[in-house]
Amino acid sequence: MTPLILAIDTSCDDTSAAVTQGVTVLSNIIASQTQLHTPYGGVFPTVAKQAHKENIDRVVDVAMRRANVESKNLSAIAVTQGPGLAPALEVGIHKAKELAEELRLPLIAVNHIEAHALSPLVEARKKNEIFKTLSAALADHHFPALSVIVSGGHTEFILINNIGDYERLGWKIDDAAGEALDKVGRMLNLGYPAGAVIEAMAKKGDPKRFKFPLPMTTQKDYHLSFSGMKTFSRNFIEQLEADKALNKQALYDFAASFQYAVFRHICYKLNKILQAFPIREVWLGGGVAANLTLRRMLRETLRLAGGRATDSRHPKIPLLVPYTKRLCMDNAAMIGVTAGFMFEHGKFATDYSAIERKPRWEVE
Ligand code: KG4
Ligand code: ZN
Repeated sequence: MTPLILAIDTSCDDTSAAVTQGVTVLSNIIASQTQLHTPYGGVFPTVAKQAHKENIDRVVDVAMRRANVESKNLSAIAVTQGPGLAPALEVGIHKAKELAEELRLPLIAVNHIEAHALSPLVEARKKNEIFKTLSAALADHHFPALSVIVSGGHTEFILINNIGDYERLGWKIDDAAGEALDKVGRMLNLGYPAGAVIEAMAKKGDPKRFKFPLPMTTQKDYHLSFSGMKTFSRNFIEQLEADKALNKQALYDFAASFQYAVFRHICYKLNKILQAFPIREVWLGGGVAANLTLRRMLRETLRLAGGRATDSRHPKIPLLVPYTKRLCMDNAAMIGVTAGFMFEHGKFATDYSAIERKPRWEVE
């Protein structure tokens, strides 16, 4: 039978629980704490921990009810072990151990970044309820694939030779892309998080008005750096203020130009990877993956790198994105689906005591 999994994610500021079967989502409940953290302009770890503690039981109950499954039919419990905020991770791991012990089930410790990487594989529940086996879900895919993860905490390129066989090719050496969007959003008093607000403003602006330098072009590696764009942003904003020219249109043009600079840097490094590796598919994940301009720019990069496809519906290097924006943000459904693959490969623990939070855990 395709493994049926109850998964939990409390890595940052969302409390989430989901039930998945193979790659299918049966429920995916997310209790957002955004409003609690807005006054701080970022996630405050002890506030996050307290909110996770208050929400976790209810979120798990609702996930089980929505999925309409009985706990006796579950194959395993899965939980994010890292990376993430240590106090936040602890709450999810504690709850997962409690459930695994009570239901006498194996416990699967999942890497949150691997889960973002696999999020484009996650599928919606269909009416006829035939759950694909995990190997059937992979039958349509071609490897090596490249995962592009763009979130508030991470921005990285991971080569996927196969599920479970990864190589990190490049990563952010300072701020993550989403973090840069949020920090510049704070300079403009856009509230937290600011990525989606900047996307909406950018739609009304000219991305070519303010020219940002393209970082890291002399380095041969595939790493990313977004912190210089913050300094540039501050200078542009101060100059506009000094000139009394920070009007609505200037703000829209600035948002469009800054967003374009962030995404152009990612596309530049992606192109370098495409020149060096025989990538067959690109899988996009993470909170910033919800951004339609990013998706369009990535598709254009793939089109140029892959040559003109004979059939435009089947480009040579397709971009796969999560089927709903809910799967871009932090969520437990991606944890459950990743755990399903691990379960099939026997990667689970029956001695739960060994599972401790790993706040800095990288994809291996
Ligand atoms: O993956 P995520 O929910 O949390 C982390 O694991 O980091 O990502 C959150 C990030 C925030 O920086 C937020 O500003 C950004 O995703 N974000 C967006 C959009 N929606 C969320 N950035 C750009 N455009 C969006 N539409
Ligand atoms: Zn995340």
